[in-house]
Amino acid sequence: MTTSRAFLDRHPAYAGTSALDDLRASEYARLDATGTVYLDYTGGGLHAESQVREHAGLLARQVYGNPHSASPSSTAMTDAVERGRAKVLEYFNGTGAYTAVFTLNASGALKLVGEAYPFEPGGRLLLTADNHNSVNGIREFARTGGAQVDYVPLTSPDLRIDQAAATALLASADPAHPNLFAFPAQSNFSGVKHPLSMIDAAHDRGWHVLVDAAAFVPTNRLDLRVVSPDFVAVSFYKMFGYPTGVGCLLIRNAALATLRRPWFAGGTVNFATVQGRGHVLAPHEAGFEDGTLNYLSIPAVEIGLCHLERTGIDTIQTRIDCLTGWLLSELQALRHANGRPVVQLYGPSTPEQRGGTITMNFYDPAGKLVDFRRIEELAGQEGISLRTGCFCNPGAGETAANLTEDDMRAGLAEGAELTLPRFLQVMQQRGDKSLGAIRVSLGLASNFADVDRFLQFAAGFRDRTLAAVGVLTIDDANCRVIRDGS
Ligand SMILES: Cc1ncc(COP(=O)(O)O)c(C=O)c1O
Repeated sequence: MTTSRAFLDRHPAYAGTSALDDLRASEYARLDATGTVYLDYTGGGLHAESQVREHAGLLARQVYGNPHSASPSSTAMTDAVERGRAKVLEYFNGTGAYTAVFTLNASGALKLVGEAYPFEPGGRLLLTADNHNSVNGIREFARTGGAQVDYVPLTSPDLRIDQAAATALLASADPAHPNLFAFPAQSNFSGVKHPLSMIDAAHDRGWHVLVDAAAFVPTNRLDLRVVSPDFVAVSFYKMFGYPTGVGCLLIRNAALATLRRPWFAGGTVNFATVQGRGHVLAPHEAGFEDGTLNYLSIPAVEIGLCHLERTGIDTIQTRIDCLTGWLLSELQALRHANGRPVVQLYGPSTPEQRGGTITMNFYDPAGKLVDFRRIEELAGQEGISLRTGCFCNPGAGETAANLTEDDMRAGLAEGAELTLPRFLQVMQQRGDKSLGAIRVSLGLASNFADVDRFLQFAAGFRDRTLAAVGVLTIDDANCRVIRDGS
């Protein structure tokens, strides 16, 4: 099967993205060769075969040494790293206005901001409730610094930002103190694309803005001449699969001086003395890149960005919009014979202002929740790779599941023994409540067949009772090794 008539009638723009089918055949053939339905692009993108070939060829030809020395092998590597950096800035249209700091991943980029932002009494940290934990964690730096921490709630059931609350909270800052507002450009839980117009609105009210773009940039254009947050975090493996272990913090040059590094390390200083107990931090990106970079992988970032440019981010976005629209409408139409829905979606029910990340839970004909871990298990048996849990996004999960502060405190009372499986038991004892869901996410190599295979899988739960679905065969002890992530 290629596509269905009904799909094309409803999403005619899909026909214009056929170049992606050719690309899938030539560069991602392993998907069909292994019968894999990959639906975890928000967890990690997939690499094209040519990315790896090109990178391996480079490493086979060149003699690369640790950068930042005067030897030929070191100079060659320094040049390649700086070419990679220039490419990153060019790709996001930030050349001249931004500094690109290479990090291990998006979390590393976010931590750099958290630890270097001058939080102080009177200052603020404002977070949206659907931030990834790697952004939520910044609140620990804010607390240590004495800044006030607030959350902008989400609306239910769409899981969009409560705009009235955001406006009021943004208006309540004292511009005489440092204030940081952090939000994801796209939620990794619900796929919601939050309005980037909030960046200017926050700037106007005396805030610096940190945009977590990790889940947004794999399928959307981020143009730093159009929107100009002070800090942007990305992970490159989410954009094009390879390499892992390299992310980036983009810092608006006008905001560079705001950050104060709490320590120094090899590579971050122009000068340091033991007897004099002093150091002079290196300027620009060098002051933020601790120790030796993952230097051999950085040329693969340039290769990946070129691959994305050749493929065309707008074509990718169009395809994702079509497939997401189809998935949303077909999942909502799926009913048991008694009329009850098979699937409950979390987040927006139409593709407007949302990306290709769709989170849900399954219910049996009596309206009983099917354990998401059992769904993952059954999907795996059919070669479908999806993700379950809370996706490191507790705020969105709590809002989606209508959990209260009391519920969360009951879980926290378990102390250091608390894991997601244990928390689920506690919630069941509190009245069949749950936390956690099933997430499917689309990306560059997704096609109609992937989506159709998942829809057929979902349709298999029609009129199946909990008993017929069967119980989880992995026990809780095994479950403990699966950490909530990504
Ligand atoms: C929105 C968002 N932010 C941050 C991260 C953290 O990325 P990493 O694990 O690459 O540091 C993720 C990972 O899934 C994410 O989806």
